[in-house]
Amino acid sequence: MSQSSFAAIILAAGNGTRMKSAIPKVMHRIAGRPMIAHLLDALHPLSPAARVVVVGQQMDSVARIVSPAESVVQDPPLGTGDAVRTALHALDGRLAPQGGIAEVLVLYGDTPFLATDTLSGLLAERRRTSAAILVSGMRPAEPGAYGRLVLSADGALECIVEAADASFEQQAIGLVNGGIMVIEARHALDLVAALDRSNAKSEFYLTDIVRIARRKGLACRTVELPAEELIGINTRAELAEAEALMQRRLRRAAMDSGVTLIAPETVFLCSDTRLDRDVVIEPNVTFGPGVTVGEGARICSFSYLEGAAVGAGSRVGPFARLRPGAILEEAVHVGNFVEIKASRLGVGAKANHLSYIGDSEVGARTNIGAGAITCNYDGVNKFRTIIGEDAFIGSNTALVAPVTVGAGAIVGAGSVVTRDVPADALSIARGQQVDKPGRAVEIRARLRRKD
Ligand code: UD1
Ligand code: MG
Repeated sequence: MSQSSFAAIILAAGNGTRMKSAIPKVMHRIAGRPMIAHLLDALHPLSPAARVVVVGQQMDSVARIVSPAESVVQDPPLGTGDAVRTALHALDGRLAPQGGIAEVLVLYGDTPFLATDTLSGLLAERRRTSAAILVSGMRPAEPGAYGRLVLSADGALECIVEAADASFEQQAIGLVNGGIMVIEARHALDLVAALDRSNAKSEFYLTDIVRIARRKGLACRTVELPAEELIGINTRAELAEAEALMQRRLRRAAMDSGVTLIAPETVFLCSDTRLDRDVVIEPNVTFGPGVTVGEGARICSFSYLEGAAVGAGSRVGPFARLRPGAILEEAVHVGNFVEIKASRLGVGAKANHLSYIGDSEVGARTNIGAGAITCNYDGVNKFRTIIGEDAFIGSNTALVAPVTVGAGAIVGAGSVVTRDVPADALSIARGQQVDKPGRAVEIRARLRRKD
């Protein structure tokens, strides 16, 4: 059956009080990506007919990141039930029976681990059972603050009791609300319209629609899903646990695809890190967003890469930093304490020790000596440095941009290069060495006399 007749509502307007943060909770990152983006990624293959994200006042950052999904503002945030009501109003006319949307899938923006298959399975299960409401259940090790699912003798869902409102007996229930719900669209508006705030938090709880539906004689069911996928993030400690879990998944996926991680638990990946076959990652390497590494490349210990492309067979680090726009073509060597930003290094180029290369082009096979740097910034503007193929830049050279060093040129160590160097030229731009025979002995003698 086509799945395009459902709308997804993602709740993200809560204050996230327990995060104690100035940033909206759903913008906190897991594996380098805001947690709400993970959720949208999982939804994407299901092509929902509409995606409505409920955001709070002054959450423009959330609206921007979720675009082109629609966003609606819930102000003030009066609870998850009120948030769904706000979204349903935005969908008015598009929902059955007037419109073509038959189901509403409600997701919480702070549940970033859901897999696409799980979501499609949930929609299929609601259709199979024809329940008015299908709620995801899980059995975490600690039921803690999750809403408890109360079942009738025949296994149907009777009601959801929030932890804060649960009796001692209800607290002991191990099956809890995982935070996803599928609601038949034709009932949705009526159900949320009947919510009230008579509970411990004085909020409109979405979870109360189950009790309301049961009173109307509508069938409600639950389906148990793996707790791992339903983890909700409410505190910094939970954020750290989620990060650890996501990292384990990403490392596993990298290894499954043919990448060697020598000490996987010390390597930190982003959800968009792309590592080709036979890449080797040594211990203690961190990947920020936007990194690709080509086949057989080796990233040595204590390197930090973001927004960089490393070509096949290249070697980076130890202790290297690749910043956004660093492009290493094939078989490039970037060694210890080398920083590269917005620069392209051609095939076989080498910068093995203590360099800064910014806003530059470095030709194929060119060697950048130890301590050579590009001076790309005059305090106001940035300029480019162009170095041709097969050039040799001596140690401790300062290339003052804008400047071009021609192909095959040699720049003597310690030069401060302020003018273009022609191809195949030898350029030396440093003070002359003067040797005065015997003068050291004289000087020492004079100094001692002063003692
Ligand atoms: C909620 C459920 C609980 C479930 C748990 C699963 C309710 C009442 N409780 O509790 O049964 O076990 O999730 O993780 O639904 N939000 C809004 N507007 C609001 C309030 C919240 O958009 O007015 C959003 C939040 O941004 C968040 C989501 O809804 O993304 C859930 O809110 P949260 O406060 O985290 O609910 P929980 O206490 O975790
Ligand atoms: Mg929550």
